[in-house]
Amino acid sequence: MTRRRLIAGNWKMNGTADALGEVTAIANAAGEQDRVDVALCLPATLIARAAAAAPGLAIGGQDVHASESGAHTGCTSAAMLLDAGATLTIVGHSERRQDQHETNADVRAKAAAALAAGLGVILCVGESDEVRTSGDAVAHVSAQLYASLPEAPSDSTHLSIAYEPIWAIGTGKVASTTDIAEMHAALRARLFAAFGEAGQDMRLLYGGSVKASNAAEIFAVPDVDGALVGGASLTAADFVPIVAAG
Ligand code: PGA
Repeated sequence: MTRRRLIAGNWKMNGTADALGEVTAIANAAGEQDRVDVALCLPATLIARAAAAAPGLAIGGQDVHASESGAHTGCTSAAMLLDAGATLTIVGHSERRQDQHETNADVRAKAAAALAAGLGVILCVGESDEVRTSGDAVAHVSAQLYASLPEAPSDSTHLSIAYEPIWAIGTGKVASTTDIAEMHAALRARLFAAFGEAGQDMRLLYGGSVKASNAAEIFAVPDVDGALVGGASLTAADFVPIVAAG
C-alpha cells in the first residue's frame, strides 16, 4: 500500500498580505516536484488571495462550522471555504479543542460537514503531557479518534488524520520515532476497524515541532504519511526543505 505523502502547513493566526510572497514561493517549490501533496492551511482572511496568487497550491482553512449557514457570528461554513478557493480544512486542532472547548462530537460534525461539501479534511488528535506521562497515550488517542471520526467519506483519500502530541506543538520537543510508530500503528488499526480497506487509503500525518532537521527521520517511520507543520511552515526557507524530505 503506497499512500502519497501530504505535507501541510498550518499558519495558525499568522499572516497578512505581506506574507503572500511566502505562499507563492512555497507554491513554486511545491510545483517543481510531484512526489508529495503540499497544502497550506491559512487564516480565513488570506485564503482567497492566496488561492488567486498560487492557483497550483492546495489552500486550506483551519476550522469549519458544522452548519451550512445561519446565525453563527464569526464562523465560516464549508461552502464559504470552497467559495474562497480552499480545497481542504483542518478540524479538531488541539488549540481549538482547548481554547474553543471543541468536543469529539463537535469535531466529528465539522469533519462530516466539510467532507459532505467536498473539502478534504485533516482531523487532529493528540494527547497532553499528563496523559503521555501516565502511560495511557495510545488508548487515549485511539478513543479520541474513534469518537471524532465521521462516516466514511466517498473518497477515502479526502480524510487524513494528524497525530499531534500537544506537548510537542510549538515546543521544539518531538515524539520519539518509537512512540510515533506505536501511535500510528494503533491509529491505522482504528481506521481499519472503522472503515475496512478504505481506512488503508487515509493518510496519517505527524505534527509537533516538525522541521527540516527532523523531517526525514519522521517520514521514515512506518505509517507516517506526511506532516502537519506549524511554525516551520511560515516561510519558504523553513518549509521547502521539509517538502523536499517528503
Ligand atoms: P508546530 O505546530 O509545528 O509549530 O509544533 C504544529 C501544529 O500545531 O499543527
